[in-house]
Amino acid sequence: MAEIIDGKALAAQVRSGVRERALCFEQNNGRKVGLAVVRVGDDPASDIYVRNKIKACEECDIRSVAVVLNGDATQTDVIAVVEKLNADNDIDGILVQLPLPKHIDERAVLAAISPKKDADGFHAVNAGKLFLGEDGGVVACTPRGIMELIKSTGVDICGKHAVVIGRSNIVGKPIAALLLAADATVTVCHSKTENLAQITRTADILVAAVGKKHLVTADMVKRGAVVIDVGMNRDDSGLHGDVDFDNVKEVASYITPVPGGVGPMTVAMLLMNTVDGACGE
Ligand code: GUN
Repeated sequence: MAEIIDGKALAAQVRSGVRERALCFEQNNGRKVGLAVVRVGDDPASDIYVRNKIKACEECDIRSVAVVLNGDATQTDVIAVVEKLNADNDIDGILVQLPLPKHIDERAVLAAISPKKDADGFHAVNAGKLFLGEDGGVVACTPRGIMELIKSTGVDICGKHAVVIGRSNIVGKPIAALLLAADATVTVCHSKTENLAQITRTADILVAAVGKKHLVTADMVKRGAVVIDVGMNRDDSGLHGDVDFDNVKEVASYITPVPGGVGPMTVAMLLMNTVDGACGE
């Protein structure tokens, strides 16, 4: 039976380090580290995520500023908010909660964020640095958290076959780049992939980031694999991962639960990115 990777405990450790650095920043600079969270419209899931992020800031001595715009705000309105925050010397990190309403071009909004204040690491400059293997860029929070979760197992990534299911800009592509930078052999699968199970069965490290409840079943997992579940699928019975946890845990060596795995680490890494930005790291 797999060992369960405790994302909540690991995230608490990360947050305590972030808090120390945030307090130190405040002592040296006479102001708190500042994170601005921009939300447009009233998507209920986004509302929960944003509230969690703001609460986590409070616990880590980071000042958070929430800017909430109506769902009928224009792209120009949102970009104007971002530009104002770019110019605000008390703000170190800016996050625009996705998805944005359909009439707004997400890429245009993300491109407007100053790359140095891009707490999410979604700006093309930061994504580009990650893909070029350049230091000094901001790494997206969920992939950064996943790497910490894998490292916490003590399993050596070098030379292992890592299979990522999902090719989003937020998770799939950046986690593939990070695993490649850590010398894994990486395969990225997606909705058009043929023989998915045949590929996932060869994974030493399997990252599921598709958004389909229990897509990954036990017969798709190699015995002893490390399984990371990024899924956040909500239905009437609660929050479910992309992995059929109860059965896959019998086959894997390490597995993240949902909730309590990747989710808390995403928030912790957002705080880490914000403090890194404030300290110029
Ligand atoms: N929507 C889903 N995940 C994320 C995330 O990590 N950051 C932002 N800004 N929006 C999201």
